[in-house]
Amino acid sequence: MAIVKNLGRTLSQLLQSPGCGCQTSIVPVRCIGVSPRQVTSDASFHSVSFSETDHPRVLITEYKLIVPCAFLFRKRFGRNNVILSDIRKPPDDVFYNGPFIYSDILDYKNLCEIVVNNRITWLFHYSALLSAVGEANVPLARAVNITGLHNILDIAAEHSLRLFVPSTIGAFGPTSPRNPAPDLCIQRPRTIYGVSKVHAELMGEYYHYRYGLDFRCLRYPGIISADSQPGGGTTDYAVQIFHDAIKNGKFQCNLKSDTRLPMMYIDDCLKATLDVMEAPAASLSMRTYNISAMSFSPEELVQEVKKHIPELQVTYTVDAVRQAIADSWPMNFDDSNARRDWGWKHDFDLSELVTTMFNILGSDSRVAQIN
Ligand SMILES: NC(=O)c1ccc[n+]([C@@H]2O[C@H](COP(=O)([O-])OP(=O)(O)OC[C@H]3O[C@@H](n4cnc5c(N)ncnc54)[C@H](O)[C@@H]3O)[C@@H](O)[C@H]2O)c1
Repeated sequence: MAIVKNLGRTLSQLLQSPGCGCQTSIVPVRCIGVSPRQVTSDASFHSVSFSETDHPRVLITEYKLIVPCAFLFRKRFGRNNVILSDIRKPPDDVFYNGPFIYSDILDYKNLCEIVVNNRITWLFHYSALLSAVGEANVPLARAVNITGLHNILDIAAEHSLRLFVPSTIGAFGPTSPRNPAPDLCIQRPRTIYGVSKVHAELMGEYYHYRYGLDFRCLRYPGIISADSQPGGGTTDYAVQIFHDAIKNGKFQCNLKSDTRLPMMYIDDCLKATLDVMEAPAASLSMRTYNISAMSFSPEELVQEVKKHIPELQVTYTVDAVRQAIADSWPMNFDDSNARRDWGWKHDFDLSELVTTMFNILGSDSRVAQIN
C-alpha cells in the first residue's frame, strides 16, 4: 500500500511539473564508472586543446550530413571545441579540419569516456539508419536508432549535456495530416526509421520532464547538400539528380514525378539547428519543432534543373518501397511554432537551392571553400 501511495505521489508530482524548463534532481539509471579501457584524449584523436573557454564543447555523432555544420561551429566555438565522431573512416578534409574520434554509439562506456575526457557540454546526435536502409535491415536499425539513442539520452542526462536530436518527416505516417502536418498530431509511421524517430522525440521529451534533460529536437524535411552523398533516405533523389546531371546528363528517378515532399537546403538546416540550440530555454514552448522551407515534386525539381542543364534526360523507374514510404509522409510542414518561439526563417527557395547546388558542385567543394 505504501508503495502504491509513493508511486501515486511521484506520478502526481511528475504530472504537475510545468511544461518547459521543469527540473527534478533525479538523475537516471546508469552509474558512471571509470572504464578499464580509458585512454588519454590525445591518444584518441589529434590536436585537442584543453584550455578553459566559455564556448560549449561539442560532440557530434556522425560526420556526413553535418560536416558543414561542424565547420561553422568550429568558426564560432573554436576549432578544438567541436569533435566529430563516427564508426566510419572520415575523408581527409574531415580528418584534417579538426578533432575526429572513433565512436560507436552502441558502446556506452566508450561514449562516457569521450564525454568525460573532453568535458563535452553539447551533444548533437545524428547517427542513424535512414528510411530505405532501415527497411532493408530492421534489426540493425532498431539497435542503432533505438538502443543507441538510449545510450545517448542516459549520458546526456547524467552529464547535464544540452542534447540535440534531429527528427524527420518520416516521424509521420499515413494517418497524419499531410498538407500541412502540424507539430502535434497523430504519428503512426510504418517504417522502423519513423517509429524510432517518434520514440526519440517522446523519450527526449520524457527525459526533459522527468530528469530535466535539456533536449531539443527539430523535424527536418529532406535535406539537400552538395557536401554529402545520398545515404539511403527516401528524399535522396533530390541530391542524386545534381550529381547525375553534372556527370552524365541523365537521371533515373526512383519516385513518381508528382510525389510532393518538404525539402530544405543544408544552410537553412544548419541555421535552424544552431538557432534552436542557442535559444533561451524560456522561449521554447515545446521541445520538438517542425521546420519548413519549400515543398516540391521530382517533376518541379527537374524543370528547375533543366534551366541549368537543358539537355538533361530523366526517366522514372519507381522503387516500390521508397514510393510507399514517400506516400505516407507529409507534403508540407506547418512550422509556425518555430517561427513564433525562436524566430525561425528560411533563406533558400527552390530556384536558389538549384543555383547554389550547381555553383558548388560545378566548382570546388564547399568544404574546400570553408577551409
Ligand atoms: N539526410 C536527410 O535528408 C535527413 C532528413 C531528416 C533527418 N535526418 C537525420 O539526420 C541524421 C543524419 O542523416 P544522414 O543523411 O547523414 O544519414 P547517413 O545515413 O548518411 O549517415 C548516418 C551515419 O551514422 C553512422 N552510424 C551508423 N551506425 C553507427 C554507430 N553504431 N555508431 C556511430 N555512428 C554510426 C554511419 O556511419 C553514418 O555516417 C539522421 O539522424 C537522420 O534521421 C536526415
